[in-house]
Amino acid sequence: MEQAGILGLGCYLPSRKMTNKDLEKLVDTSDEWIMTRTGIKERRIAPKESAASDLGVEAAKLAIKDARLKPEDIDLIIVATVTGDMAFPSTSCIIQDKIGAINAAAFDINAACSGFVFGITIAKQFVDSGLYKNILVIGAEKMTSLVDWTDRSTCVLFGDGSGACIVGKSKDRQIASYFIGCDGSGSNLLRLPAGGSRIPATEDTVKNKLHFLKMEGNEVFKLAVKVMADAANKAITKAGLLCSDINLLIPHQANIRILLAVAKKLGLPEEKIFLNIEKYGNMSSASTAVALAEANKDGRIKKGDNVCLVAFGSGLTYGAVVIKW
Ligand code: COA
Repeated sequence: MEQAGILGLGCYLPSRKMTNKDLEKLVDTSDEWIMTRTGIKERRIAPKESAASDLGVEAAKLAIKDARLKPEDIDLIIVATVTGDMAFPSTSCIIQDKIGAINAAAFDINAACSGFVFGITIAKQFVDSGLYKNILVIGAEKMTSLVDWTDRSTCVLFGDGSGACIVGKSKDRQIASYFIGCDGSGSNLLRLPAGGSRIPATEDTVKNKLHFLKMEGNEVFKLAVKVMADAANKAITKAGLLCSDINLLIPHQANIRILLAVAKKLGLPEEKIFLNIEKYGNMSSASTAVALAEANKDGRIKKGDNVCLVAFGSGLTYGAVVIKW
């Protein structure tokens, strides 16, 4: 029976690499500290003139081509981002224009690093209800535009990139289940303090660096392991599966120690976890989007496999989807 599934995938990474050695010249850190504490070796940096929409357009074009569709075939564009080109209009509208998806409605969602998982979940509802046929879901982030390059506890973690998928009616690669959740009591743990209606931009907010992301790393770490394992478990159970039935877990690439702890909680061996954190760091909503596209391209997913995408992020938000490939 046909139901919502993945029709096409694509991802885009800016070519400029920033290595841990490069960061040693900016802040008091070391390649050894970053590698052992986070698993990150390098990250990509988008050009100064590029915004999230420019990154998203590249991934979107590849996903549309991969699905053998034309931009006019897209009915809806959902962009997951916390680094949109501006507060409004939505980045999805800018992308709609740039790719010529003239028949598409478009909106952004902000579920931070869980955004791509939330986006797929929303797209599934529209496809299964019959309202839309082809939905473009994009995770696009220029995280380095929010990073304080003098704060060693955060600047080593993030990078830029984008990934996209087309969700439509399909006989394979079906979205078997989903689970999304939130714990708003953790909303202070990872945030961009100023620039919104609470603290609009002033000379003081700039001087006090309130337009850069702030994070309580240790607290986020502890909660991340719990909520990712819980979310994955819930989606896997909803799909009528056991953790041992999962062939590949594709987690949000936040910190290798978090990911290995989640895998351990789920009883999954390391070889069943897709990791690309070493190359890209944390790209927020783009992390799972890029990882899914790369896992597919690299032949890590075979027909019949059960794939679980799981993420957590600022909010705190968390979620997982199971895809039967
Ligand atoms: N280089 C060298 N030392 C650093 C450093 C860096 N880049 N960043 C922090 N340190 C220092 C700290 O100042 C501290 O020094 P002190 O003991 O003298 O005070 C020491 O390293 C340990 O800091 P701590 O924060 O306890 O390290 P940690 O092992 O918890 O690792 C994170 C820090 C940020 C890597 C880790 O907490 C983390 O990954 N948290 C989750 C973040 C995350 O995933 N965010 C995204 C959510 S989507």
